Amino acid sequence: MLSVDRVSVRRGANMVLEDVSLSLAPSRTLAVVGESGAGKSTVINAVLGLVPCASGQITWNNAPVGLSRPALVMQEPRGAFNPRMSLRLSVMEPVTARGRAIDQSRLDRLCNGLEIAPDVLDRRPTEVSIGQAQRAGILRALIAAPPLVLFDEPLSALDAVTQKHTARLIAQMQLEEGFAALIVTHDLGYAAAFADDIAVLRAGRIEEVTASKAFVEAPQSNYGQILRDAAFALGALERVA
Ligand SMILES: Nc1ncnc2c1ncn2[C@@H]1O[C@H](COP(=O)(O)OP(=O)(O)O)[C@@H](O)[C@H]1O
Ligand SMILES: [Mg+2]
Repeated sequence: MLSVDRVSVRRGANMVLEDVSLSLAPSRTLAVVGESGAGKSTVINAVLGLVPCASGQITWNNAPVGLSRPALVMQEPRGAFNPRMSLRLSVMEPVTARGRAIDQSRLDRLCNGLEIAPDVLDRRPTEVSIGQAQRAGILRALIAAPPLVLFDEPLSALDAVTQKHTARLIAQMQLEEGFAALIVTHDLGYAAAFADDIAVLRAGRIEEVTASKAFVEAPQSNYGQILRDAAFALGALERVA
């Protein structure tokens, strides 16, 4: 289980996270929603150990979270890959960099689940569609079977049809693989449809953490209501329901 316990993060003179507490059980999905600049990516960077916590601690099963080797799926799928390498080399890297051999049957099974045709992996990032590149990004995150996968705006770079497809594939892979998913997104419709719980982040502080269904019906915080109502006005909540 992931535990983010009263974490604060400082950037220069500013506190960009203040007293943030979150928990995420194995195989469950937690969405952190908030506006641009709220600190969503900083939450992920703190979990990955890429920014230090000024106070508080982050653990997986009571041990330093780094030991669980959490994987990251980034927003910009092409930027996530080395442009000069085939996708296959990049995708296998989390395994090969640890001096291990690729389990071909696992790779085939994951490709099948993520609807990645075999020849796609032999291309470079610029030679595939953005949706294919994002599915390859998810494949790379899952290849070493991490217990925790972090998704930073995983659908934002995709068109609406591809968003829906990719969201379903992530959920399907989670059922098969059993990883815990921490998804940060500004898309409340996505969060409400796919996450078990929604944490609302505003200016570096958690306003509420609420079960998704209950959140859509009745957010607990004023700001949560504003976000929910804005998503209703955009049709974002009906769209995914
Ligand atoms: N490397 C950095 N140096 C200084 N400030 C940063 C840095 N990265 C992010 N910030 C600041 O931290 C705050 C939160 O940023 P971020 O976590 O990227 O928000 P979000 O992902 O929700 O859009 C913002 O005010 C941003 O300007
Ligand atoms: Mg961000």
